[in-house]
Amino acid sequence: MVRDDPDYQPRFKEVFGVSGDAITIEHVKQAIAAFERTLISGDSPFDRWYFGRDRKAMSEAAIRGFKVYMEQGRCVSCHTIAEDHALFTDNRFNNLNVGFERIAGRLPKLTAAFEKSKRAGGNVDVAVLSNANLSELGRYAVNDQWRSMGAFKTPTLRNVARTAPYMHDGSLKTLKDVVSFYSKGGRVKDKDPINAYQSSGIRPLGLSDKQQADLVAFLEALTSPAYAKSK
Ligand code: HEC
Repeated sequence: MVRDDPDYQPRFKEVFGVSGDAITIEHVKQAIAAFERTLISGDSPFDRWYFGRDRKAMSEAAIRGFKVYMEQGRCVSCHTIAEDHALFTDNRFNNLNVGFERIAGRLPKLTAAFEKSKRAGGNVDVAVLSNANLSELGRYAVNDQWRSMGAFKTPTLRNVARTAPYMHDGSLKTLKDVVSFYSKGGRVKDKDPINAYQSSGIRPLGLSDKQQADLVAFLEALTSPAYAKSK
């Protein structure tokens, strides 16, 4: 609770002139809104090229990467781009096969223990945040639907070049690793197993080294200059 956190107490005093029980949800809302206003994401080379029609705003490699993103890579099917804006997420949940191998062989046991603790009033947030195996259940932990097993929400890709490491468990270190993972159909190595709950939208893409490098150049063009400067 922010109210009881010694790190936040002096800052609330400084900004709002209040402390302890005088801190209300209104103060917290204002603080979160102030934080969100710092997350500026527009005006990236992509925005200037795509929406602003500035043909020089993106490099040749990034322009080729955009084509891979839209066509052979099918990235746009989940990381969406609309006609007049681009959030780079469909806000849906998908199992990509990231980190799932860790629990794949133990699902009946793991889910039975999880459901039991849930029925006994156990806190789901605490369970998934304190136990790496339970966190791999993904959306299932929230909705108890087997089709959501190991599924995570599609994240935006804005400023993604600045936010390594990647995926819910931080297991992929670079954008190059991410693109290679997708090209192998959700595998780090060619022979890695695929799980039964993997999204049908993830399958081997057969991207050449050049196409993969171009795709990385495109992802790097999603950085807003204001965001880059604030970091
Ligand atoms: C079927 C939907 C889907 C498709 C297709 C898809 N993604 Fe994703 N993407 C996701 C989901 C879901 C995650 C988060 C997965 C996780 O953490 O387990 C993600 C994560 C990422 C991340 C990591 C973001 C971060 O901040 O950790 C990058 C980068 C990314 N995708 C790029 C791409 C690229 C490039 C393509 C095309 C080659 C692509 N995605 C295709 C759904 C998709």
